[in-house]
Amino acid sequence: MLHHQSPPRQLLSICLLFLVCGVNKAASLLGGGRRIWQQPKLEPFNKDQSFLHDTFPSGFLWGTGTSAFQTEGAWDQEGKGPSIWDHFTHSTVGTDLATETANVASDSYTRWEEDVEALEYLGVISYSFSLSWPRLFPDGDAKNQANPAAVEHYSRLIEKLLEKKIEPIVTLHHWDLPQVLQEHYGGWRNDTLVGLFEEYAAFCFHTFGSRVKIWLTMHNPYLVAVQGYGTGVHAPGETGGAAGSLIVAHNLIRAHAKAWHTYNTHFRPTQRGQVSIVLGTHWVEPQRGKSTVDNIEFCQQSIEAVLGWFANPIFGDGDYPPSLKIKHGALLPSFSPEEKLWVQKTTDFFALSFGPNNFRLGRGLVQYGQTVSPDLRRILGWIKLEYGDPRVMVAEGGWFSESSVGREDTVAIYLMKRFINQVLQAMKLDGVNVFSYSAWSLVDGFEWNYGFTVRRGLFYIDFSQLNRTRTPKTSAQYYKNVITDNGFPNDKTSRELQGRFPCEFHWGIADSTLQNKAVLVFGGCLLITSVMFIALVIFVIITKRNQRVRGVNRIIKRRERVTVCSCRPVKYKL
Ligand SMILES: *[C@@H]1O[C@H](CO)[C@@H](O)[C@H](O)[C@H]1NC(C)=O
Ligand SMILES: *[C@@H]1O[C@H](CO)[C@@H](O)[C@H](O)[C@H]1NC(C)=O
Repeated sequence: MLHHQSPPRQLLSICLLFLVCGVNKAASLLGGGRRIWQQPKLEPFNKDQSFLHDTFPSGFLWGTGTSAFQTEGAWDQEGKGPSIWDHFTHSTVGTDLATETANVASDSYTRWEEDVEALEYLGVISYSFSLSWPRLFPDGDAKNQANPAAVEHYSRLIEKLLEKKIEPIVTLHHWDLPQVLQEHYGGWRNDTLVGLFEEYAAFCFHTFGSRVKIWLTMHNPYLVAVQGYGTGVHAPGETGGAAGSLIVAHNLIRAHAKAWHTYNTHFRPTQRGQVSIVLGTHWVEPQRGKSTVDNIEFCQQSIEAVLGWFANPIFGDGDYPPSLKIKHGALLPSFSPEEKLWVQKTTDFFALSFGPNNFRLGRGLVQYGQTVSPDLRRILGWIKLEYGDPRVMVAEGGWFSESSVGREDTVAIYLMKRFINQVLQAMKLDGVNVFSYSAWSLVDGFEWNYGFTVRRGLFYIDFSQLNRTRTPKTSAQYYKNVITDNGFPNDKTSRELQGRFPCEFHWGIADSTLQNKAVLVFGGCLLITSVMFIALVIFVIITKRNQRVRGVNRIIKRRERVTVCSCRPVKYKL
């Protein structure tokens, strides 16, 4: 699925799309996301538009999150069975894929009370964490007796959160599948897991549902399908390519839909909670910012290939986007008419993951000169147009720091400020209905195939120390202020911050165009470069007329590159 189709096929896909839209009224919104690229991107030189001083609605659900495998540790303690990630990290240690294990990680299974203290420091209103399926059911089978130590652990955590007035947001499956299910069934390749997941979900709703009102069935199934079963970079490390990923995605979608129906039928009447699924994506802008029909089509297909793959069935018409059907042909499994009916509309809100993991892959999805851009405002606008204005939770927002970055994580503050302001702009200027933002993550943890080489926590952990002390980073202090202010009510916070940022931080990530100063600096450099370039060209023409043109071109090119590069400090590595 990492390949784009050829242009003639694209034409066919557009025609097909119009046909489908014309025929199926219920799905008439699908494809509407294209309009976002027709709207001009904000003029970055206009200060009023590039940063919005305003507050979030009262009751906005500020939060942060972690996942079980990344933080819990205690991988074989108190009856827990191994997960595919335990197996994967243990068997790949020393290879390129992993250099560490998460056997202890942030030790949150033991130090969960310190996590709650960290939440209190931040003043968050919600905390999302995931249940470890193999900790609750070491044999993966929810028909059997649950591990009492695990039930007690999660019950204690939930009680404590409620006592502190922090809303628990609970994810059932954040990638740590019981290893035994991988061995017996081939994991998510096997549709037996759809039923097993439904039973596990029903157990969790039954056991914790009187206290938990917001459920997320699974986190970013795109990465499970592509990295876990396609490229093999994630556990279980299978390299089944597009065919493997497509089958796995199909089963994940059906497992989610089953769990939602189980809740809807059996638990919602008494528990009155909400259930969704966290979907991840990247974002792209058209080639050289030119919104031609073709360019917009490439952008639309890039997002459909990642977010639409899962969101079209679940939030749309119960089926895959037409562009995916054309691209993958017979490889793409199909939903029966009955399945389409029970897959569609199986959520109570839209939950979005917008972080570095999708962007690393997103780069492989742009082949026609589009720019990958971490623009949270634009993707929120796209979701509104494409899926009929759903309520949206940003379930995972944030970036990462190199592990060498300690507690003074200045770049992380800058990015956090930008992402949260983009959410505010989406709400106030574009009318997107966002009700929650979760800054990822609470504490430093095990970052999957990156091990401990990157950090995503608001709280710093020195993994060489047994006590795993949680120390607030500067980003934690900043987030605390944003929550206290419920946004950016005046110039106070922003002036403070601007004073602290040297020019190079504006180049933090792939997208440079949003930063006024960066653009000005870059523009200035370009101007100087152009003048030098012209001077050089004239010089060359005068002195080396009729001489080896190829050699001269090389000199000019090199000169240009060096000059431009000196104005562009190191980009954040993806
Ligand atoms: C699913 O698992 C069952 C039981 O192990 C096995 O018989 C079947 O072949 C598996 N199907 C696939 C598609 O792997
Ligand atoms: C954690 O351990 C380190 C050294 O082992 C020590 O310096 C530090 O004070 C300890 N922190 C706490 C909170 O006990």
